[in-house]
Amino acid sequence: MRISVALVIITAAHCTDSLTTGVDVYLGTHDRTNASEKGQQIVFVETKNVIVHENWIADTITNDISLIKLPVPIEFNEFIQPASLPEKSNSYETYTGESAIASGWGKISDSATAVTDILQYIDVPIMSNSGCSPWYLGLVAETNICIKTTGGTSTCNGDSGGPLVLKDGKNTLIGATSFGIAFGCEVGWPGVFTRITSYLDWIEEKSGLANYGN
Ligand SMILES: *[C@@H]1O[C@H](CO)[C@@H](O)[C@H](O)[C@H]1NC(C)=O
Repeated sequence: MRISVALVIITAAHCTDSLTTGVDVYLGTHDRTNASEKGQQIVFVETKNVIVHENWIADTITNDISLIKLPVPIEFNEFIQPASLPEKSNSYETYTGESAIASGWGKISDSATAVTDILQYIDVPIMSNSGCSPWYLGLVAETNICIKTTGGTSTCNGDSGGPLVLKDGKNTLIGATSFGIAFGCEVGWPGVFTRITSYLDWIEEKSGLANYGN
C-alpha cells in the first residue's frame, strides 16, 4: 500500500520569521549536499504556506514555533517517515528523566566554523524545567522543554527547529530546538526546546492536525 499525505513540518519561529520568497524542505536526507542521494527530496515552500506563531517574541524567545505546510503530497518510504504528535489530553507529562533523540545538521563542535553535511543524532535525557530555568535567567518558560548536555553533547547552531522525539516506537515529537547558550554547545548548559504539548491546540487550529489516540 502506498499512502501519500499532506505533510506539515513543525519548526522554530526564529528560523522562519524572516523568509523572503520561501524555504527549501529537505526530506529523506542524510547528506544534504548530495543531490543524487537515494530517497532525498527537496520541496520548495512559498512563504504564504509558512505559519509563524502570531505571538512569537524574539527578545524573550517566547512562542518559538512555526508550521510549514507542504504544497505537494509526500509518500512515506524507508527514508521518509512522520513523527507523531503527543496525544491530546487535559494534562501532559513533563517527560523529565526520559531519554529522547535530537537531530540536525548543526555545528558538530564549538570550533566548527560551519554547519555539517551529514545528519547527526544525539540521545539525551530530558531535564525538569525547574532544573533548567536557573541557567537562563527567566528565559525558560512552561512552554519550553530542556535536555541535559553534561558530557558536552548538545544541540548547536544550525539545529534550530529540528525535532526532539521520544524513543517510544512512534517517534512522538515533544520538542523543536529553540536555543542554547551563546558561548558554546560543549559547555554543559542545557539545550532548550519549544515544548510541543504546550502548542497542540495551536497546531490543531492552524493545521487541523491532532492526535486523539486510537
Ligand atoms: C551520493 O548518493 C549516492 C546515492 O545514494 C551514492 O551512491 C554516492 O556515493 C553519494 N555521493 C557521495 C559523495 O557521498
